[in-house]
Amino acid sequence: MAIEKVGVVGCGLMGSGIAQVCAQAGFQTVVREFSPELLEKGLKSIEKNLVRLVEKGTITESAKNEIRGRLNGATSLDGLKDCDLVVEAIIEQLPAKRELFSALDALCPAHTIFASNTSSLTITEIAAATRRPQRFVGLHFFNPVPVMKLVEVVRTIATDPVVYEEMVGFGAKVGKTPVRALDSGGFIVNRLLVPYLLDAIRALEEGVGSVVDIDNSMKLGCGYPMGPFTLLDFVGLDTTYYISQIMFDEFKERRFAAPPLLKRMVLAGWHGKKSGRGFYDYADPANPKPMSL
Ligand code: 3HC
Repeated sequence: MAIEKVGVVGCGLMGSGIAQVCAQAGFQTVVREFSPELLEKGLKSIEKNLVRLVEKGTITESAKNEIRGRLNGATSLDGLKDCDLVVEAIIEQLPAKRELFSALDALCPAHTIFASNTSSLTITEIAAATRRPQRFVGLHFFNPVPVMKLVEVVRTIATDPVVYEEMVGFGAKVGKTPVRALDSGGFIVNRLLVPYLLDAIRALEEGVGSVVDIDNSMKLGCGYPMGPFTLLDFVGLDTTYYISQIMFDEFKERRFAAPPLLKRMVLAGWHGKKSGRGFYDYADPANPKPMSL
C-alpha cells in the first residue's frame, strides 16, 4: 500500500526536521506535539527554514505555500489515526516510546507502518509494545535533518521484508540516501561516531591537546565539517552521555564507556550549545570560548 499520509510525533529539533522533509517530498504530513506552545515553536522553525529556502531560490514562494498546505499540526494523537506511516521523534526514553506506540497501535489501522527515530534504543523492544512488530522499523535521521543526506533504515528480526523495502524507498523519497542497518546498538553511524567522540574527550583528559587543537586537527587534518568538541556541543552532551550508557550496556566494551569528564559536565548541566555551555561557552554565540582543563 502506497504511503500518502505521514504522521510525525514530536516537533522538536528532529521531529520538526522530519515533518519538513516529508511535506517537502509531497506527503500529507501531520505533526503532533503535546503542548500548543511546543507545536507552535516547532512549526515556526519549519517556516523559518522554508523562508530561507525561498530566499536562496531553492524553492519558489508558491512551492513553499504548497508545502505549508500539506503540513498540519495536532496536539492530540487522534490527528494521526488515518496515517499510513507514523514516525516517532519524542524524548529518548524507552517507557515513553513504548507507551506512545501502544496507544498508536490501538488507534491506527492495521496497515499503518510505525517507525522510531531513536538513535540508540533497541527497536525490537519498542516494537514489542505493539501487536505489529512486523510493520515496525527504525528511521534514524541526522541533525540538522533538512541538511544531512542520510537516513538509517533499521530492521529487526521481526520486520517484514516487504515493509522494510517500502521504508528504504520512503527514505529515498524524502531526499535522503537510505542505508540498511540491523537493530544493533547505535546502528551504523553511532557505532562508529560515539567511540570517536568519547576518545576525543579521553585525549583531552590526558592532555594530548586542547579543545581547539583537537577540533582543528580533525577539521583540517581529516576534512570533518566540525571538530569532535563542536559536534559534541551540537549533538548535546546529555544525549551523547545517554547514548554511550545504552551502548556500553549492550556491548560492555570500554570504547563505549563515558569518560569521567563527560559525566561531570552533564551533572553540572553543561549540555552543549542548547544550554549555553559545553566544551565551548556560548555566552557570545558568534565567538564561542573553549574550556581549558
Ligand atoms: N536547519 C536547516 N538548515 C541548516 C541548519 C539547520 N539547523 N543549519 C545549517 N543549515 C544549512 C544552511 O542554511 C546552509 O545552507 P546553504 O548552503 O544552502 O546556504 C547549509 O546548511 C550550511 O550551513 P552553514 O554555511 O551555516 O554552516 P556549515 O557549512 O558549517 O554547515 C552543518 C552546518 C551542515 C551543520 C555542518 O557543520 C555539518 O555537516 N556538521 C556536522 C553535522 C553532523 O555531523 N550531524 C550529525 C550529528 S549525529 C546525529 O545527528 C545522530 C544522533 O543520533 C546523535
